[in-house]
Amino acid sequence: PFEWYAEMRERAPVRYDPDRRTWDVFRYDHVKEILANDDGRFSTSPRNIDGFEEPPEDEGFLLDTMLLQDPPRHDELRSVVDDAFEPRAIRELEPRIRTLTSELLDEALAGADGELDLVDAIAYPLPVIVIADLLGIPREDRDRFKRWSDTIVRGADSGVDPESFVEEQRQAGQEMAMYFLQQLEDRRQNPKDDLLTTIATAEGEGGKLSHREALGMCMLLLIAGNITTTHLITNAVRCFDAHDGDLFDSLADGARELTSAIEEVLRYRAPVQAMTRVPLEDVEIGGETLEAGDGVVVWLGSANRDERQFANADSFVPGRSPNSHLGFGHGRHYCLGAPLARLEANVVLDELTDRISAVEVADADLTPVRSSFIYGVESLPIRFENSA
Ligand code: HEM
Repeated sequence: PFEWYAEMRERAPVRYDPDRRTWDVFRYDHVKEILANDDGRFSTSPRNIDGFEEPPEDEGFLLDTMLLQDPPRHDELRSVVDDAFEPRAIRELEPRIRTLTSELLDEALAGADGELDLVDAIAYPLPVIVIADLLGIPREDRDRFKRWSDTIVRGADSGVDPESFVEEQRQAGQEMAMYFLQQLEDRRQNPKDDLLTTIATAEGEGGKLSHREALGMCMLLLIAGNITTTHLITNAVRCFDAHDGDLFDSLADGARELTSAIEEVLRYRAPVQAMTRVPLEDVEIGGETLEAGDGVVVWLGSANRDERQFANADSFVPGRSPNSHLGFGHGRHYCLGAPLARLEANVVLDELTDRISAVEVADADLTPVRSSFIYGVESLPIRFENSA
């Protein structure tokens, strides 16, 4: 999409697309201004879009989550789980994440013979297991849980009939919702030291969350954090592989360098390329008037390549500093899971660079995911040599 972004930043940086009945915003300053939303003129709730139709009672749980709510409810919802996602709390998870990563890689490398698919081996399973652990999903339910998230999160694989896929997705969503409701009820009776308990006990009369909000929160944490982290890991391997002199091997010893290289991946190949907003009143941006109730797409992936903000914006510069990318968004909806995603990516790449070298990606053969909002590949076959 990057050539299209570049053209739009010059030719039509804020434009209305009559086919999608949506505005598109491409430049860094404009995107950041809309996300910062200092005077509260933009909403994240699709309910404010002209012509929005309320989904049936038992669907559309995400509408009542922090992601799609404005203040004051946004802040109240976010405060329920804020502490659990603080950098300090997340840092304590490192040993556990390292063990998990190590186990998954042992298993994958054992039968690999110099070739494997990084998505199957680690980039997909790790984030699901980590969030299931954090929530407190019992081990024996993990497979069931993973199957539902596969269906809900992974999107339609090519070849699946779209209609039956939508039905499958709806059903998996309902099964998972039933499951979460049971678990939440269980935690109300038997509190444990897990996120489900935090969410369950913040619920109820006089409490902070309605049943629907509690359920939405569980679904959001699962959905927001999984495939995004998968793509951060695989996009990183692609960036490192394509970099002059194969960055993959030279990063093997540098923790600090790895951290800043991952930030650059979040700029250069951001897993989330776009977010939506709705003006609550008429707003002027870049000389155009966005009307109340219009849909607005802010292109993070374009802002991240804006030459007005980043020197050599179209080059991957692993040590770039400062690097004020918008890969995790900006403002009050700034990604709650950013510290966790960074940690997972760091641990996985650190372990990978330790264990394998001379990594090669057959870039030309990759299948991009079929979404304009998510940037990544369906699978990432690599060839490599074992290090130790
Ligand atoms: C919000 C990206 C991982 C949970 C966001 C937003 C972005 C984003 C761009 C802003 C949405 C907006 O402004 O409308 C990413 C990327 C990730 C990632 C690129 C991985 C590389 C995670 C993880 C979790 C998570 C691991 C949790 C387990 C959330 C939540 C929000 C959010 C709950 C909503 C925050 C709010 O509305 O206040 N994420 N995310 N994300 N993310 Fe992430």
